[in-house]
Amino acid sequence: MGDIERAVALLRQGELVAFPTETVYGLGADASNPAAVAKIFAAKGRPQDHPLIVHLPGVEHLDRWAREIPEKAYALAEAFWPGPLTLILKRQPNVPDAITGGQDTVGLRVPKHPLALELLKAFEGGIAAPSANRFGHVSPTTAQHVRDELGEGGGSHVAMILDGGPCQVGIESTIVDLTGERTAILRPGMASAFDLGRVLGRMPDTPTGDAPRVSGSLAAHYAPRTPLALLQPDVVIFAVREAMAANQRIGIIAPMACPLSDERIVWRRIAGEPAGFAHDLYALLRELDGLHCARIVVQKPPQSESWRAINDRLQRAVAGSGAG
Ligand code: TXA
Ligand code: MG
Repeated sequence: MGDIERAVALLRQGELVAFPTETVYGLGADASNPAAVAKIFAAKGRPQDHPLIVHLPGVEHLDRWAREIPEKAYALAEAFWPGPLTLILKRQPNVPDAITGGQDTVGLRVPKHPLALELLKAFEGGIAAPSANRFGHVSPTTAQHVRDELGEGGGSHVAMILDGGPCQVGIESTIVDLTGERTAILRPGMASAFDLGRVLGRMPDTPTGDAPRVSGSLAAHYAPRTPLALLQPDVVIFAVREAMAANQRIGIIAPMACPLSDERIVWRRIAGEPAGFAHDLYALLRELDGLHCARIVVQKPPQSESWRAINDRLQRAVAGSGAG
């Protein structure tokens, strides 16, 4: 039996299968099976009232899950799917409460990774999948990240992990709410407000402090266990000197080259543009987290619109970092 056939069989039996998407790895369950969906919450340690995204094989599945679908939903689907955009729509009555957290809405997305699409097409249904990490932690961008964090096979909640290599985008999808009068971005992603605005003919609202309930919008999220600081370029070097003076190991993520050579400095260069930065950010945070640095410092990116999603994740990672 091939990997995809085995994964489909496991999903049909109500087991969890982790799979790659272009954004991050997802922890998948049959979205129409509440007992299977319950296993996701157990595996992640995630509160039950946090809704899950349902992944679909194609836009033609949209009306099985959503009702009263506005034209703009089809316009966005046509422009971005398969791709890193999740649409929040009114749900069909048959969508399990376990998926929606009891809300009248459902999040839907067609992912772009070839293995994800192959799996969804073979499964011929919706696969509920949050990011395949423990609740609040950094999302996984490789199969090994998932294995390290949740395990695989006997004794673990995860029956199987499909390995599709490193994720291309690297941070979670943009979430856009289409259920109200106004179109609103609930979680920024690499599909930007400008990208959506071009398709919609007007800019969507962007997140404010009191955005609706999206677990990724809790102040602390996407976080490493090591204390994390975001510092302006000219301050990074002071943090390094301070760590040296205290004889501590420090992890640095910055576009510039390391100006000093010392074995206590774990310096990782990252791209100076958003796509490359997003691609590597989570893997680098995980790597440095695993090296038991006293502190991780990320050089603060620019505050412009094209960096919005990255700055959003970095701020939440700082807020949640250092929790053991
Ligand atoms: O890129 C992604 O979106 C990844 C990949 C695996 O597709 N998935 C992901 O799932 O990030 P998760 O569960 O870690 O984050 C999904 C977010 C959650 O914050 C959840 O609260 C929100 O989507 N969400 C899901 N359904 C919703 C709904 N009906 N209304 C508002 N927010 C919703
Ligand atoms: Mg998540």
